Amino acid sequence: MEKVVVGITGASGSIYGKRIVEVLVSNSFGVDLIFSRTGKKVFEFETGLKVEEFLDSLPKDLVSVYSEDDLFAPPSSGSYETAGMVIAPCSGGTLGHIASGASLNLIHRSAEVCLKERRPLVLVFRETPISRVHVENMLKVIDAGATLLPASPAFYGKPKEIGELVDFIVEKALKALLNRSFGLSKGWPP
Ligand SMILES: Cc1cc2nc3c(=O)[nH]c(=O)nc-3n(C[C@H](O)[C@H](O)[C@H](O)COP(=O)(O)O)c2cc1C
Repeated sequence: MEKVVVGITGASGSIYGKRIVEVLVSNSFGVDLIFSRTGKKVFEFETGLKVEEFLDSLPKDLVSVYSEDDLFAPPSSGSYETAGMVIAPCSGGTLGHIASGASLNLIHRSAEVCLKERRPLVLVFRETPISRVHVENMLKVIDAGATLLPASPAFYGKPKEIGELVDFIVEKALKALLNRSFGLSKGWPP
């Protein structure tokens, strides 16, 4: 079973991470899921769902959930094989940790592992406006091999509901990570 590490941080847009996990498991990928501490709070605030309710809705044989404090968890090690990692949404704080190499939690460390092992790392960054610090950190992670994928959906598909905007980004993120289409969004031409 191919495995993907998914990080959900405390940036706005928890719905992106939720949908990415759902699409991955419905396509039989294994998911190693890590919420940051604030990621859990923002997830519950924005989606109106308890994290535990969301986890209960997922197939137990495909999803492993780890605490951000568990640096002994498998994704912390380069010898643990994965197809790569997506962080969605990715906060400015987490971007900064990855850019500096200061891996204080399992999300930072798993991202560091992807960069050092030359595996795909996709950061669905969500902040606006952005400062020079953000831009410098973006340059660092792009130079190190990550894909910086701003949560910036397009409107040329004439979306009628939020789910279509979410799926536009989810399709782009999964394409960048796994180099295959999931048929969630038509892109251009619509
Ligand atoms: C409701 C809410 C929305 C937030 N939205 C963002 C955001 O869009 N982008 C961002 O970089 N930080 C955002 N933050 C701040 C981060 O949650 C905060 O910087 C946190 O320390 C990031 O840590 P983490 O990356 O480990 O989750 C938000 C915080 C809250 C409470």
